[in-house]
Amino acid sequence: MYLIVHVPVISHLSRVPRRKRGMHGYNSKPDRGLVIFDSKIGNTEKIAKSLAGGLLRAGVDAVCVNTRDVQVDSLTEFDLIAIGGPTQMFTASKPMKDFLLKLEKTEGLKGKYGFAFDTKFGSPLAGSAAKFIEKRLAELGMKIVRPRQSAIVEKSEGPLEEGEMEAFERTGFEIGNTLTKDEKSGIKYSS
Ligand SMILES: Cc1cc2nc3c(=O)[nH]c(=O)nc-3n(C[C@H](O)[C@H](O)[C@H](O)COP(=O)(O)O)c2cc1C
Repeated sequence: MYLIVHVPVISHLSRVPRRKRGMHGYNSKPDRGLVIFDSKIGNTEKIAKSLAGGLLRAGVDAVCVNTRDVQVDSLTEFDLIAIGGPTQMFTASKPMKDFLLKLEKTEGLKGKYGFAFDTKFGSPLAGSAAKFIEKRLAELGMKIVRPRQSAIVEKSEGPLEEGEMEAFERTGFEIGNTLTKDEKSGIKYSS
């Protein structure tokens, strides 16, 4: 004779917010995301904050910081590192290029999730800072979690085109969900 006992482990787990489950299992710390930006006028900063907002909504412990305030030694603490800046002269800005050079000497980035973004004009001939950034992240051995994304500015000083901040918030949310999906499928990327 069998005694059927209802143990609602699965249904209980599915109700636990992702924030509590984290990348490495139930009750572990949430994934940590760092959004690093350069911004001369403020448009890229707005996009960076939207991206971080979406990550937070997906349960990622996300923070947003200017390149000049980043302590490169602390980068190993993060699961995801998203980096974005303004497109200038068809490529990344000087502060962003200087920052990326610093990363070349930083240990422990290999295998971390990376994402590149930029702000730029809408023309296909405008160039892209994100293209430059994404290439560097891949060269550092980071796992590009999603192809680079650009937010379009109407003029040099802005504003951003309508809907760009919302689009990046959604991107942050989707990236956050990608991290937890990899956790579910057992894929682990170690540094
Ligand atoms: C010196 C300078 C050069 C620029 N060159 C480009 C360019 O080559 N391609 C482009 O799409 N936008 C270019 N822009 C527009 C910038 O991409 C836009 O000002 C930037 O996205 C604003 O970002 P921020 O507010 O974060 O500084 C340039 C802007 C400046 C000030």
